[in-house]
Amino acid sequence: MFKKILYPTDFSDVAHKALDFIICLKDAGAKEIVVLHVIDKGNFDAIARYATKDILEIEKNLKEGALAEIRPIEEKLQKKGFKVKVIVSRAIPVMEILRVEEEENVSAIVIGSHGMSNIAEMFLGSVSEKIIRRAKTPVLVIR
Ligand SMILES: Nc1ncnc2c1ncn2[C@@H]1O[C@H](COP(=O)(O)OP(=O)(O)OP(=O)(O)O)[C@@H](O)[C@H]1O
Ligand SMILES: [Mg+2]
Repeated sequence: MFKKILYPTDFSDVAHKALDFIICLKDAGAKEIVVLHVIDKGNFDAIARYATKDILEIEKNLKEGALAEIRPIEEKLQKKGFKVKVIVSRAIPVMEILRVEEEENVSAIVIGSHGMSNIAEMFLGSVSEKIIRRAKTPVLVIR
């Protein structure tokens, strides 16, 4: 049931916490983890509009930064014996998470209840809420 897990992360504290639960899913048969970070297209376009630097250069820097943040996550998972696939893309986070869910044919998604904004009054972040509504596979939400 949990053979291949999609782990979308925005590198927030809540998303980091989800990693410990993923490791526990090894005992439930998890073998492969797809770690996905989406560079929010909306934020990127806003930056690009006023950027004085080459936007391809900015995109390259953002991708490299994200890959550097993912490396310790990847190593931690590999040490625990998981196969790991890393995806960093520039897109709309919800759309991209749903696209990768389908493309990678994952068996479940593990996501944080909140992310970088982490507004206490919100029951869920907007990304996690939409993923719960629209995902085809089971979603494990970590608080
Ligand atoms: N850009 C992203 N790439 C990959 N995963 C993401 C991204 N943004 C959010 N997530 C995932 O969704 C979870 C919930 O984040 P979400 O963005 O919904 O909450 P928030 O940032 O507190 O609120 P909001 O973005 O609505 O202001 C995160 O813990 C993470 O697992
Ligand atoms: Mg967010």
